[in-house]
Amino acid sequence: MIINYNDITSTQKYKVMSQSIIPRPIAWIVTVDNNIINVAPFSYFTPLSSNPPTVIVSIGHKDNNEPKDTLANIRKTKKATICFVNEIHLENMILSAQPLAKDISETTKFNIPTTDILDDYPPIIEGCDSAMFCNFHKEVELEGKTIPIILEIKSQYCNDNICDNNFNINLENISRIGKEFAISKKVKNDI
Ligand SMILES: Cc1cc2nc3c(=O)[nH]c(=O)nc-3n(C[C@H](O)[C@H](O)[C@H](O)COP(=O)(O)O)c2cc1C
Repeated sequence: MIINYNDITSTQKYKVMSQSIIPRPIAWIVTVDNNIINVAPFSYFTPLSSNPPTVIVSIGHKDNNEPKDTLANIRKTKKATICFVNEIHLENMILSAQPLAKDISETTKFNIPTTDILDDYPPIIEGCDSAMFCNFHKEVELEGKTIPIILEIKSQYCNDNICDNNFNINLENISRIGKEFAISKKVKNDI
């Protein structure tokens, strides 16, 4: 079977791509505007380069065509904290994807506690093992309603339990496979 992308709908393209490009990492992004903490997951998310240390995340619009709160906040404050999702956070991560009015925080609505780590960046989700503190770098032009944003990683939090002084990091992140989820575990490499 050849799937010709010219012949299928946007929903079908999403379905095919999200079940093929697997697993997709999840950026659980925390932003802050007017003291309101916004939390939402994004899996059109991937590293771009280590030099400069950058990631890209594509963020869409709400049904009313306004930019999603995460996109609006990054454009305004130029800051984002990307948390990696542990198994214990799966339910809260899914809840935080619900569309809420911009002045309502997912942290209060769904009782998702956060922890302040750095003064000048949004907090991390409490209990997350690693998070990247990022600055807005640039938007990428792409036809359509999704805006790819390049973020530059300025520093990273790692729970002492999952890393050592040689920067060996042992995370078990939740990622996405189609509509479902997976946990990343290392596979032994004997070659
Ligand atoms: C696992 C997962 C991955 C998602 N990935 C994306 C994504 O890459 N881009 C996007 O625009 N929305 C994505 N969403 C939907 C957003 O999380 C959702 O629209 C959310 O309400 C946006 O919140 P905000 O308006 O507070 O930014 C994803 C949802 C889930 C559950």
